[in-house]
Amino acid sequence: MSGALIRASDLSVRHAGADQPVLSHIDLRIDPAEIVTVVGPNGSGKSTLVRALLGQVKLASGRVERLAGLRIGYVPQRVHIERAMPMTVRRFLSLPLRVSDAQAAAVLERTGVPGLEGRQIAALSGGQFQRVLLARALLNHPQLLVLDEPTQGLDQPGIIAFYKLIEEVRAETGAAVLMVSHDLLVVMRASDRVICLNGHICCEGTPQVVSAAPAYRALFGAESQGTLALYRHHHDHDHDHVADHVHGPDCAHHHHA
Ligand SMILES: Nc1ncnc2c1ncn2[C@@H]1O[C@H](COP(=O)(O)OP(=O)(O)O)[C@@H](O)[C@H]1O
Ligand SMILES: [Mg+2]
Repeated sequence: MSGALIRASDLSVRHAGADQPVLSHIDLRIDPAEIVTVVGPNGSGKSTLVRALLGQVKLASGRVERLAGLRIGYVPQRVHIERAMPMTVRRFLSLPLRVSDAQAAAVLERTGVPGLEGRQIAALSGGQFQRVLLARALLNHPQLLVLDEPTQGLDQPGIIAFYKLIEEVRAETGAAVLMVSHDLLVVMRASDRVICLNGHICCEGTPQVVSAAPAYRALFGAESQGTLALYRHHHDHDHDHVADHVHGPDCAHHHHA
């Protein structure tokens, strides 16, 4: 492991009933205190990759190693059901781990939503809800925060504020952050490393390197403003295929070399 929090080697995943793997031959590692963002079109396997790293998905091949006793704070992409339940913020923070009033108050303060304890989850704004989710994930003092599309539903200022908060949390706690995001404009500024995924890793590196990479451009728009192409994609909820966003051979399909 040599210092990594999580390391995946030659990881492949095939969902039950699917004829092709959703993820093929993924190698990656997350090191302490780094912010890594996974980007890719809808259906490119981002959530599956996150869940595979957390040990929640059966691997078709390869392996995932996690640092012994690694504390993870995970906010999954699908939290709509939790949101619909009648429940106060205070009670939500105590599920599944009971926390003291003082702990609850401190973590809400830390995530920029102090005093929300008595509010109903269903009554929160999108931005408040994402901060409460982050607060709950922080209660376990994670060494690794895993956030699957944490800024979905937020407007642009909300997205920027959320990423700023993530950077503060990282600086304060030393937690590494693995994020899935569509908000490329912000990702490019707030990440140490970007992994561009489309069933396999198309390219990865610093935001500067990735945004200049041909594979990235092929996936997110041949024009130099590829980030804008993906940003538009984020708002186009009818698209669950990648074809409209592919302009080159490198990442055009999930391939399975
Ligand atoms: N539990 C599952 N069973 C079968 N197919 C799944 C399952 N989860 C995801 N998939 C399929 O795997 C592909 C990748 O899904 P996902 O990892 O959610 O992509 P992303 O998060 O990038 O949008 C999609 O085609 C999706 O329909
Ligand atoms: Mg997803």
